[in-house]
Amino acid sequence: MSVSLFRFALGMTLAVAASAQARLHPISSAEVCGQCHLSIVESWKESAHSHAMDSRLFQDALAAAEADSGAAVRGTCLGCHAPLAVQTGDMAMDRKTTWEGVTCDYCHSVRTVDTDSANPRARAEFSLAKSGPLKDAVSSAHPTVYSPVHVSSAICAPCHEYKNGQGFPVLTTFSEWKASRYGKENKNCQSCHMAAQAGKVADARFEREPTTSINIHRMAGSRSVAQLNRAVKLKMDVARDGGRAKVTVDVSNIAAGHSIPTGSPLRQLILDVSARTADGKETHAKKIYARTVKDAAGKVLDKEHFVFMKSAGVMIDSRLTADETRHEVFTFDSPVGTSTEFKATLSYYYSPFARDKADQRVTVVTKSQRFR
Ligand code: HEC
Ligand code: HEC
Ligand code: HEC
Ligand code: HEC
Ligand code: HEC
Repeated sequence: MSVSLFRFALGMTLAVAASAQARLHPISSAEVCGQCHLSIVESWKESAHSHAMDSRLFQDALAAAEADSGAAVRGTCLGCHAPLAVQTGDMAMDRKTTWEGVTCDYCHSVRTVDTDSANPRARAEFSLAKSGPLKDAVSSAHPTVYSPVHVSSAICAPCHEYKNGQGFPVLTTFSEWKASRYGKENKNCQSCHMAAQAGKVADARFEREPTTSINIHRMAGSRSVAQLNRAVKLKMDVARDGGRAKVTVDVSNIAAGHSIPTGSPLRQLILDVSARTADGKETHAKKIYARTVKDAAGKVLDKEHFVFMKSAGVMIDSRLTADETRHEVFTFDSPVGTSTEFKATLSYYYSPFARDKADQRVTVVTKSQRFR
């Protein structure tokens, strides 16, 4: 059988297989894509993107935003948390694709992104054709369109860079990246968040040869302790002098292509340094790395929906920019002859909205040293 005939036969099988199950529409659920792109759908399901809409944290914040600013605010929030809701006009939130949050058919309908406008804007085209990074895709299931924007950080910008109604830049991940070494070297977001691994783009029964690799869609960020561990380095030195101890701690951002934390101004990286003597006396010192924002009246904002809608200025920005090392010095009483344990702990704080501790804070790394 010739190659093209073989492809045609495969196409027929595909058409039959696809029609036996849910059909592909210009806007389809991830479940439909999963009939063929199984491993990509599985990794996306573990991402924050797939829960951007159905997470309790977001639903609570959305309800609070509407109570505070009126129902019209929903369109603003869903624009990033459930982009297909806006595209399909589903403000009543009835459709399945709305509840899928940042889902397949949003990103793979995007054709271009304008990063020069006040807020970066994506132009999407909803049809059976799917845009993506493969120049040589062969799919009888749906037309494919090679799209350079999918291999550029620009695809992420419309949602990870945002100025609100006050003209205040609430989310600045894209511009932080652009200003960093990574941006200058054009090491894109995908290179750290969508690592390529061996795998099948589409299910074996449909696939052309040879099998290439896939980009995992899990988008590990601060919710991944492994990713956080890669990102920050902690070094501690203790020097004792008479009854005092000088604790020197270096905190470095060694692997994030933007500030740590980035994104929502409620995120914090917290350094806690403690001295604990053998008799149980404990002293703590703390440093917080964060970008605290305020409203037009100068009041500090501590809830996500207020931050998005009302922030108008920066109170303090103490975050670690890409490649930055912060040198911190603490002194403690440390009586000679008493054994003392010094400890430095870095933890990451997500959001005051979280209902339980595990959702609110995670320990990234701990260093300790004991003196006799
Ligand atoms: C019936 C099987 C099938 C279904 C259903 C399906 N695809 Fe595909 N898709 C394929 C095949 C086969 C390829 C080609 C793979 C290759 O060439 O390596 C492909 C390629 C792609 C590409 C790569 C395009 C490029 O040029 O980079 C994207 C993106 C894509 N599909 C997205 C989707 C999305 C989104 C859905 C759901 C709305 C979907 N697909 C549903 C079989 C399918
Ligand atoms: C946030 C946007 C986004 C979402 C959501 C998304 N993708 Fe992708 N996808 C991308 C980008 C960007 C690439 C290209 C990555 C690269 O080449 O560096 C890609 C690549 C692909 C490819 C080409 C093969 C590969 O692995 O590079 C396929 C097929 C694909 N995605 C299917 C899907 C399916 C199915 C879903 C839903 C489960 C989905 N995508 C969700 C952005 C997205
Ligand atoms: C349509 C909007 C949209 C696009 C496009 C988009 N994101 Fe997101 N992204 C979000 C939203 C919304 C969240 C927050 C989800 C939540 O926690 O509720 C998020 C969260 C994340 C996270 C955080 C995960 C964590 O652990 O907290 C990472 C990392 C991320 N996105 C990376 C990317 C990258 C890389 C791209 C481009 C390839 C991209 N995003 C494109 C909307 C988007
Ligand atoms: C050099 C690697 C690298 C590059 C490039 C990079 N990131 Fe990250 N990113 C990380 C690491 C590591 C983390 C985990 C540490 C953290 O949360 O700050 C992270 C975390 C994140 C988070 C989670 C923040 C949160 O508050 O939960 C988001 C969102 C994100 N990145 C988006 C992006 C976007 C968008 C781009 C491109 C404009 C990008 N990243 C480029 C490595 C990178
Ligand atoms: C321009 C896109 C955009 C808009 C508009 C937007 N968000 Fe978000 N939101 C994000 C991104 C991206 C994140 C991921 C956090 C990060 O980057 O640190 C996020 C995070 C959040 C979180 C924290 C989720 C978590 O898992 O920690 C909440 C809650 C939230 N947004 C609520 C809202 C509400 C309510 C609105 C409307 C008032 C809104 N957002 C508008 C993009 C957006």
